[in-house]
Amino acid sequence: MEVKIYQDYHALSEAAASEIIDLVKNKPGAVICLASGHTPRLTCKLFAEKALQQKTDLSRITFIGLDEWVGVPPDNEGSCHYFFQHEVFQPLHLSASQINLFNALSINLEQECQEMDKVIADKEGIDLMIVGIGMNGHIGFNEPGVSFDSYSHVIKLDDTTLTVGQKYFKTATSLGKGITLGLKHLQESKKVILIANGTKKAGVIKKTVEEKVNNSFPASIMQKHSNGFVMIDQEAAGLLNRNN
Ligand code: PGA
Repeated sequence: MEVKIYQDYHALSEAAASEIIDLVKNKPGAVICLASGHTPRLTCKLFAEKALQQKTDLSRITFIGLDEWVGVPPDNEGSCHYFFQHEVFQPLHLSASQINLFNALSINLEQECQEMDKVIADKEGIDLMIVGIGMNGHIGFNEPGVSFDSYSHVIKLDDTTLTVGQKYFKTATSLGKGITLGLKHLQESKKVILIANGTKKAGVIKKTVEEKVNNSFPASIMQKHSNGFVMIDQEAAGLLNRNN
């Protein structure tokens, strides 16, 4: 794992967006998994802008959504579906056949997980994951205590996620469970980039990079990835020891 520090949120988002573009140029059939949330918003926007400007051929990529709030419909502005629809799919005119998102309204969520795992396995794995980090160290909805060996699963969200998660919704929304790719997917992904910005993320970034790898702080698994990058702005890097 390598830590890369950028001047600010914009520079970090530019770099993350360029990673996606460069990958697709080298591998037009790339399998790309992105997170939704506040951190990746600018990465997604810049990716869409660059792809349109550079006329990047995205017709062969496979898109994988990292996670979704169980029970939240896709037209709810706080859903991951809504985010990707507006930030990525519509601007880039991706076709439905390229898009793989969990249906969090399904009556058979186990089947949703199996289908997602099968898509990823059939495509011979994910080429690039770009993920954020939660205030409890989660990646996707891999909450503290999750197994590092898990593939897609449904999980009870912990109190931090339930509280912080309200920030995505216009009105108070009942949240309880999440459906998410697992940390085994992350470990098997050919490249993983964790992005974070701002002073409020400095504490969790310090733990991600410096704490012993431990499933009570899921993002610490990044340390084990041989092609893993923690890309952060100066504020999020503020508590790191200098020798990282
Ligand atoms: P954020 O979410 O990018 O909105 O801070 C991160 C996360 O909870 O994974």
